[in-house]
Amino acid sequence: MVPLWVQLAYLLAAVCFILALKGLSSPKTARQGNILGAVAAAIATIAVFFQDEGGLDNVPLIILATLAGSVAGVVGAYRVQMTQMPQLVALFNGVGGGAAALVALLELHDLTSVADRFNAEIEGFVLVATVFTIFVGSVSFAGSCITFAKLQELMTTRPVVFPGLPFAFGGSFLVAVLFSVMLVGDPSMLLGILVALLGLAVGVLLVLPVGGADVPIVISLLNAFTGLTVAAGGYVLGNVLLLVAGTLVGASGTLLTILMARGMGRSVVNTLFGALKGGSTLGAGGASDRPVQSAGPEDVAIMLGYADRVIIVPGYGLAVAQAQHALRDVVEVLQERDIRVDYAIHPVAGRMPGHMNVLLAEAQVPYEQLREMDDINGDFTDADVVLVVGANDVVNPAARTTPGAPIYGMPILNADEAKKIVFMKRSMRPGFAGIENELLFDEKTTLLFGDAKENMAKLLKSVEAL
Ligand code: TAP
Repeated sequence: MVPLWVQLAYLLAAVCFILALKGLSSPKTARQGNILGAVAAAIATIAVFFQDEGGLDNVPLIILATLAGSVAGVVGAYRVQMTQMPQLVALFNGVGGGAAALVALLELHDLTSVADRFNAEIEGFVLVATVFTIFVGSVSFAGSCITFAKLQELMTTRPVVFPGLPFAFGGSFLVAVLFSVMLVGDPSMLLGILVALLGLAVGVLLVLPVGGADVPIVISLLNAFTGLTVAAGGYVLGNVLLLVAGTLVGASGTLLTILMARGMGRSVVNTLFGALKGGSTLGAGGASDRPVQSAGPEDVAIMLGYADRVIIVPGYGLAVAQAQHALRDVVEVLQERDIRVDYAIHPVAGRMPGHMNVLLAEAQVPYEQLREMDDINGDFTDADVVLVVGANDVVNPAARTTPGAPIYGMPILNADEAKKIVFMKRSMRPGFAGIENELLFDEKTTLLFGDAKENMAKLLKSVEAL
């Protein structure tokens, strides 16, 4: 019997997890949401020591492992660059899935030993939940390791496809299902280990053919898998909080997957099956040498300073250059001149969901100046100047006009409808999708070449001097 105070602590932690998710749904409350989630995890970690009235075994080892994990987590989180956050999420997620699979294997070991000793039956549903945790946890672990390696560029970021891959994937999956059914009928450790190994193979084969923009969608999907694994593990271990927390992660991961896929103009099914066919590709484009119009910071300052309406389109390059503070300063000077300025936020600008919101919130840009794509897309025709800072794919008209382009079908910001467009970027290299952007060659377009932070500082001086 779990002591009453532990049950109450679990209930408190579950409520905190739910409120944390609510907090994370808006940039204004995200920080509090994060802290609340961390507090809930701390409550759960402490309360679990008192769950069994007989006490836990191996307490010093558990404490040592918890400390080692905490130190690795804190050091990793401090060291990681904002732009490397998706890799970190992939790694944390993989570790969670792997841990759940190992716990389920140990639980299977205990269940089969007890059943052998007392010649007892193991409850069928417990076995189903155990084998599910072993399999899906292993898929999540192996898949997350491959996504980490891809995003960290430890291996090619392009889809890896070889002849027979769909058969290898389908075959491993089917044999794993067969072994799982056999395990539920006649539980044994050997079958458990085989299901885990097949899960690792399925995880690798699922993610290898995914490349380009689909990798973060797959991370989110694996995150949902880990949540379901943890929920099933909670059932096996009789721990209600694991069940609740796992279900929350599973549900939110699924929603995030659907939203990201929608933001990139792809269905989740297409992402998965396209990936299996090697269909999620990264464009192969290099830097173009076609002529473009370029200008210096002083010319761009004049364009901006004499406009009535300016729209800023931030992108990945803004995060790389860390130019968000300088950008806010430029915008403030423009606003002092009674120019209306808005930031247009594309749902997949940058490299992770909400990347631009987080970046601009860090620079204390007021939330009301951030306008979501659907909200601002009708305003571009009124804009005198659109300043595109380190963005490319999110304004690339190929998404509308070029079937077969990796971003074809992705909704974009209608920057091409403005009277003038200024791109701040360092070179003629393409963006993440690796394809040329026709808008760079448009007669309304001017390029301000150079690092966004350095150029933004020059731009600031020039607009202040107007
Ligand atoms: P991108 O299309 O990747 O373009 C970024 C631009 O920033 C490039 O043109 C690059 O040009 C420029 N840049 C890089 N460093 C710079 C610096 N220091 N100073 C100035 N410019 C710099 O970015 P985007 O428009 O934000 O689009 C996001 C892309 O990432 C989409 O294809 C999306 O599908 C994909 N994606 C998104 C996510 C999420 S969830 N947000 C996750 C993964 C992938 P130069 O090299 O010439 O400077």
